[in-house]
Amino acid sequence: MYLQDWVDESYSDCCQWQSVLCNATTSRVIAIDLLSLNIASALYLNFSLFTPFQQLESLDLSGNNIAGCVENEGLEKLSGLSNLKFLDLSHNSFNNSVLSSLAGLSSLKNLSLAYNRLEGSINIEGMTMLESLDLSGNKFNRSILSSLTALSSLRKLNLMATGFKGTFDVQELDSLSNLEELDMSDNEIDNLVVPKDYRGLRKLRFLDLSGLRIRDGSKVLHSIGSFPSLKTLYLKSNNFAKTVTTTQGLCELVHLQDLYIDRNDFIGSLPWCLANLTSLRVLHVPDNQLTGNLSSSPLMHLTSIEVLLLSNNHFQIPISLEPFFNYSKLKIFHDISYNKLQGHIPVEIGKVLPNLGFLTISFNAFNGSIPSSFGDMNSLIYLDLSNNQLTGEIPEHLAMGCFNLEYLLLSNNSLQGQLFSKKINLTKLKRLNLDGNHFIGDIPESLSNCSSLQGLYISDNDITGSIPTWMGNISFLDAIIMPDNHLEGPIPSEFCQLDYLEILDLSKNNIAGRPLNGAFSKCSYLLTLDLCNNRLNGNIPNWMGRLSQLRYLILANNNFEGEVPLRLCQLQKLRLLDLSHNNLSGQIPPCLDNTSLHHEEGYYDLIPTYRNEYDIVSYNVGPSMGEKETIDFTTKERSYTYKGQPLESIHGLDLSCNKLIGEIPSRIGELIRIHTLNFSRNNLTGTIPVTFSNLRQVESLDLSYNNLTGKIPPRLIELNALAVFSVAHNNLSGKIPERIAQFATFDEDRYEGNPFLCGPPLPKICNENRSSSEASTHDDEEDDNLIDMDSFYITFTVSSVIVILGIIGVLWVNPYWRHRWFYLVEILITS
Ligand SMILES: *[C@@H]1O[C@H](CO)[C@@H](O)[C@H](O)[C@H]1NC(C)=O
Ligand SMILES: *[C@@H]1O[C@H](CO)[C@@H](O)[C@H](O)[C@H]1NC(C)=O
Ligand SMILES: *[C@@H]1O[C@H](CO)[C@@H](O)[C@H](O)[C@H]1NC(C)=O
Ligand SMILES: *[C@@H]1O[C@H](CO)[C@@H](O)[C@H](O)[C@H]1NC(C)=O
Ligand SMILES: *[C@@H]1O[C@H](CO)[C@@H](O)[C@H](O)[C@H]1NC(C)=O
Ligand SMILES: *[C@@H]1O[C@H](CO)[C@@H](O)[C@H](O)[C@H]1NC(C)=O
Ligand SMILES: *[C@@H]1O[C@H](CO)[C@@H](O)[C@H](O)[C@H]1NC(C)=O
Ligand SMILES: *[C@@H]1O[C@H](CO)[C@@H](O)[C@H](O)[C@H]1NC(C)=O
Ligand SMILES: *[C@@H]1O[C@H](CO)[C@@H](O)[C@H](O)[C@H]1NC(C)=O
Ligand SMILES: *[C@@H]1O[C@H](CO)[C@@H](O)[C@H](O)[C@H]1NC(C)=O
Ligand SMILES: *[C@@H]1O[C@H](CO)[C@@H](O)[C@H](O)[C@H]1NC(C)=O
Ligand SMILES: *[C@@H]1O[C@H](CO)[C@@H](O)[C@H](O)[C@H]1NC(C)=O
Repeated sequence: MYLQDWVDESYSDCCQWQSVLCNATTSRVIAIDLLSLNIASALYLNFSLFTPFQQLESLDLSGNNIAGCVENEGLEKLSGLSNLKFLDLSHNSFNNSVLSSLAGLSSLKNLSLAYNRLEGSINIEGMTMLESLDLSGNKFNRSILSSLTALSSLRKLNLMATGFKGTFDVQELDSLSNLEELDMSDNEIDNLVVPKDYRGLRKLRFLDLSGLRIRDGSKVLHSIGSFPSLKTLYLKSNNFAKTVTTTQGLCELVHLQDLYIDRNDFIGSLPWCLANLTSLRVLHVPDNQLTGNLSSSPLMHLTSIEVLLLSNNHFQIPISLEPFFNYSKLKIFHDISYNKLQGHIPVEIGKVLPNLGFLTISFNAFNGSIPSSFGDMNSLIYLDLSNNQLTGEIPEHLAMGCFNLEYLLLSNNSLQGQLFSKKINLTKLKRLNLDGNHFIGDIPESLSNCSSLQGLYISDNDITGSIPTWMGNISFLDAIIMPDNHLEGPIPSEFCQLDYLEILDLSKNNIAGRPLNGAFSKCSYLLTLDLCNNRLNGNIPNWMGRLSQLRYLILANNNFEGEVPLRLCQLQKLRLLDLSHNNLSGQIPPCLDNTSLHHEEGYYDLIPTYRNEYDIVSYNVGPSMGEKETIDFTTKERSYTYKGQPLESIHGLDLSCNKLIGEIPSRIGELIRIHTLNFSRNNLTGTIPVTFSNLRQVESLDLSYNNLTGKIPPRLIELNALAVFSVAHNNLSGKIPERIAQFATFDEDRYEGNPFLCGPPLPKICNENRSSSEASTHDDEEDDNLIDMDSFYITFTVSSVIVILGIIGVLWVNPYWRHRWFYLVEILITS
């Protein structure tokens, strides 16, 4: 936060200042919120500064690195503020000395001292008005409980992560008869004592006992019945190993609304008495070992359930959706059955589950069409029906009615017709995955209404027509993935208005001619450009060297001619260059060692700074199963499909199947980060540079079908990562490198078609005298200065860690984040 208003003289009325709130009638200051001011060094506060605000009710100084008070100007100065009710000092560095001056603040109702440096025990007896006390994240000992007994007005107490050890006897809190919320989580409590027929804490509504060390779960579940008012109960992550779940106490909590028992290793089937919990709205049971037939389980009677999470258990799941229709209030349905659900999606689904916000039933065997009634689910945010056998069109009612939809994932079905009908009302849509279907026709203009769209995935359909220029106006687009269609050029230079565009994949289409113009060079944020398998011709344009963030450039399988432009060496961040299967001539540029094929990329030096946290969230919000972007990178010997894994690590150069001539520059041996190098099927002459023994990461090295001469450098045996190697059909001579390390695995066919090669695995025996005289060590260093140095050293904006995550996210949908998002949605929906 930056308090410009506070120093700007034009804001004389402090009621207008940021972080200051005044009473509208009296114009007196009633609240000051100075949280998280980003103060770097330890701050010592003069609390007299606040004494003029006699009407102050609320003061928030949390997260400011405050270490203490100026001498004689401590918290006691606030005791004159008789209206002060709310004080938040959390996430600072106060120690116990702050407590001595708290006693005078008798009007306080809410006090947070969370995450400071308090220790041992504390004394705050005078604060009898206190209703809410947060002491979490300090290091107290167990005598803390007795020091709280005087706080008889207390309704809310947070002792999370306070280092509390050993036995927790609830009777120690008996005097807090008004207590409604108690958080004891993340402590080292190993025994919970609740006396039989306990009558204390009758008002307790919220209890968090997660992350404790209690082993005997059945005892806890039993005694929990002593808190009849409980509405929310957390018992997560307690490793109640091997506890049978037939316990009465829990079932007595008839007012319970939210129950969290994730990660406990509960075994057995859920007890029938759970059907008594008729108020339950939220039930989390993931990561246990529960068994039983879900259709005939007590859960089916809990018809008020809105959120039901069951994953990672051993339940028998119904094969149709109908049993779940008992949950007419359901907001989240996350199928856990994988390949089990089948038949049609019931046509009435939208009417039966009108509150649904999150539905994923991907990877099942649903057939038939998408019910039009989805359009009745006005709250739907996330809809994933991908990887089923659905047919028919996308219902217009869905495209009009689900106006809150942000994620629509229909990949890998057999959907037909136009992508969308004329009418779409999906203005909040961020991600549209329609890949792997049978859609036909143009990209409809109606899609231009989806102004929030970030990712468009329509690969592997039968879409025709030209690429619409209006896509350049959907300003948040970061991924346009449309390979495997019948699209035609040109590629609109309007795409360069898309500041966030990182991936443009138009491979395997019908784009012919020279559909790129110089205006495209302004697309300086592009990370991936994949135009392979089209019918592009002409020279590779020089301006491509200006796509300064480009990491993956794939132009394979086109009709490009002319030389490999030296300007491509300006792409300092280039990791993958695939120009194979074209008609390129001339020599291999030596300067490619200016790219990231050679040097480590600065960790922070990735994308311009203005990208913010918002992006990371959106990137990582994966739809189902790592489908984001695929790059097919094929060498003769080995097809690399980089999918569902971070592309971070892939470095490659493929110039195979062209008409390149001349020698292989020895500087290619400096591309030390390269994993795959393919120069096969050209007309290269000269020797294999001895520098190739530097390519320590190379896994695939293919130089076959050229006109290379001389000896195979013996030190190539140092390439320990090498899995694929071929020099077949050249004019090499002399002794084959020793058959040790990786070279022991290469057979005769890797060397065939070189009449003068000898030694194992070839049958020909070496005549030592003759072959050694043929060895050539000629290196070519003369090309080194070919590049135009002046335009070379471009500086790039430094960015942050966020960005690298962003990139990983683009290329790789991390299941962890998917999980995170899933919970996030839930929080949004349940709150
Ligand atoms: C503003 O102050 C007046 C007079 O003290 C009081 O009656 C009123 O409740 C206050 N309003 C707020 C929003 O605090
Ligand atoms: C604390 O602030 C008060 C009020 O502005 C001022 O009078 C006093 O001198 C300050 N104390 C110190 C030690 O700076
Ligand atoms: C507590 O903090 C104050 C102010 O920073 C400091 O003077 C004092 O020595 C600290 N006391 C302890 C016990 O660390
Ligand atoms: C708890 O800490 C207080 C002082 O901070 C100390 O006097 C007391 O002995 C400690 N009690 C236990 C049980 O360690
Ligand atoms: C103060 O505490 C009460 C009781 O727990 C709570 O209802 C209220 O929301 C708190 N006020 C603030 C501003 O946090
Ligand atoms: C709870 O369920 C059990 C068995 O399912 C039943 O016998 C009992 O009467 C129920 N208790 C209440 C309070 O409904
Ligand atoms: C589960 O219970 C339902 C309803 O009682 C029944 O129709 C189904 O056959 C059961 N499934 C299995 C696998 O036992
Ligand atoms: C659905 O709930 C009703 C009670 O509301 C119950 O009678 C019925 O058996 C439940 N259906 C299933 C499949 O359990
Ligand atoms: C749909 O799936 C069901 C169940 O798997 C099957 O019986 C039915 O024949 C399928 N219908 C079509 C049209 O494929
Ligand atoms: C679609 O199916 C293909 C082939 O089975 C698979 O590789 C791909 O991951 C699927 N796409 C999605 C989004 O699940
Ligand atoms: C390679 O060069 C030879 C001789 O210059 C020529 O005949 C041949 O066509 C060339 N091959 C390729 C693939 O360009
Ligand atoms: C290989 O190169 C030699 C000379 O370097 C040339 O005479 C010969 O024609 C070339 N062979 C092919 C197949 O290009």
